[in-house]
Amino acid sequence: MSETKPEPDTQAGERVAETAPESPSHEAPAPDPQVLARRRFLARASIGLGAVGGVALGAPLVGFVVAPLGRAVPRTFRTVGKVGDFEVGQTVEVKFIDTSPLPWAGVTANTGAWLRRVDEKKFVAFAINCAHLGCPVRWLPDARLFMCPCHGGVYYEDGSVAAGPPPHALSQYVVRVQGDEVQIRAEPIPME
Ligand code: FES
Repeated sequence: MSETKPEPDTQAGERVAETAPESPSHEAPAPDPQVLARRRFLARASIGLGAVGGVALGAPLVGFVVAPLGRAVPRTFRTVGKVGDFEVGQTVEVKFIDTSPLPWAGVTANTGAWLRRVDEKKFVAFAINCAHLGCPVRWLPDARLFMCPCHGGVYYEDGSVAAGPPPHALSQYVVRVQGDEVQIRAEPIPME
């Protein structure tokens, strides 16, 4: 017959723990109330100064980004060539500077259009940017179509959508002839 060991008396154990001698206390002395008040003041002052610094740095940055959004974009006519530079019936790419007045625009201020001389006096200019997501479209003279290489958008020669995801026709610029100069009115092009 095997003897069963008696279960440890947990209550007794707890009693032992309760009655165990306490280790010597190493509690720090209570801090001086003046020191505590000074620390609180310094903490609040540093938080306040941090907030003021954050606003001082952040406000110009926010203004730098947001201000151009509310600024009216001027519409300016840009000369893209002489009337005699263009043959009747031909569609060619022309370059010009857009109306962005932002000094940091750099080369991104350059844009282009597909200009067609319809007859002796009439010109039409199509946006070079696809109406879907803005990829530059190419003019295929043999097919007489505009093609977008990004997602296969296709436009007829009048700029209307022939196939693909473009939600609307190619945008057109206003074109005028001033003297012997052909001018395009530069303005933002609506995308999808
Ligand atoms: Fe032209 Fe998508 S950007 S089809």
